Amino acid sequence: MLRRLYHEQPASFAFTPANLAWAEGQISKYPEGRQASAVIPLLWRAQEQEGWLTRPAIEYIATMLGMANIRVLEVATFYFMFQLQPVGSVANIQICGTTSCMICGAEELIEVCKELIAPAPHTVSADGKFSWEEVECLGACANAPMAQIGKDYYEDLTPTVLRGLIARFRDGEVPQPGSQSGRYSSEPVTGLTSLAEYKGKGAGLNGSVQRAVDIGETVKRIDGTEVALNLSWIRNREGGVALAEKPAAKPAAKTEGPVAAEGKQPEALQGPRGGAADDLKEIEGIGPVLERLCHELGFFHFDQIAGWSEDEVTWVDQNLKGFKGRVTRDKWVAQAKLIMAEGLDAFRIRAKTNDY
Ligand code: FES
Repeated sequence: MLRRLYHEQPASFAFTPANLAWAEGQISKYPEGRQASAVIPLLWRAQEQEGWLTRPAIEYIATMLGMANIRVLEVATFYFMFQLQPVGSVANIQICGTTSCMICGAEELIEVCKELIAPAPHTVSADGKFSWEEVECLGACANAPMAQIGKDYYEDLTPTVLRGLIARFRDGEVPQPGSQSGRYSSEPVTGLTSLAEYKGKGAGLNGSVQRAVDIGETVKRIDGTEVALNLSWIRNREGGVALAEKPAAKPAAKTEGPVAAEGKQPEALQGPRGGAADDLKEIEGIGPVLERLCHELGFFHFDQIAGWSEDEVTWVDQNLKGFKGRVTRDKWVAQAKLIMAEGLDAFRIRAKTNDY
């Protein structure tokens, strides 16, 4: 299957402050220079936030991890779990079409999707609420046929049951996941023949379903407010302090302009001189997101960056939301000085070999 970026893309992407804190926590799990290892969790989080992976999100994550855009695009296009086109605002329904499910009626479930959602997969329904696709085995073969809706599995489906589920989702309900025929888990449909003292049909919810019901995130877009729930095990590098235990003030400050930091704040401009900013993306390591951050901080020109002192570099490094330390790591000042001294053409040649 050809996987390409969707032809219509939003203008920009940014993690919510809480998701940004979560992303920084993921990156902190890896040693310096190995931040690229966090690419899949970050892409997944972006998809959980937006529903699908946009080009600005891919570029944002590439900048955040110091990777070339094409490397992140390769990951996003390789794995089918990443949705490269818009999905329904309520849910993207993934029907398993592999052997067990196919034998047990997956094709009839797909017909229901075609009728109620859209004739073709990866197409958003007329009301914008749903999309659907056929996927490979999801590992719940004993409860075939099944579908993944949002984060959870709906098993032992029939066309009638699936119609009912879609109607309830459309009305804003979140039906209970798991077996829809009353099975406790994956015991025989005719009932337990051994270990009958353990839970069986009609005995309440199994652990997975109970957990899904308790968390209530089946079709919820993840804005990061779940951080305190899920991140207690992530430790930051410096102090071994769990991110979830940190005071909330730090991530909150990131949305409110510069934070107090070490070093000295460089002189900032209200806007670009003459109304035209330099293309800061010429500097290796600065992408569209970092350029926008520079503008927010009042930096628009190469000569501003070329003139930063060590103290000023320290300040800017601290104030690049989600990209701390990039000025030092990517030698922005040396690059800007070279641009000022030799011009862009000469700089571009030397930049190819990192000769600055
Ligand atoms: S064949 Fe459908 S879950 Fe395995």
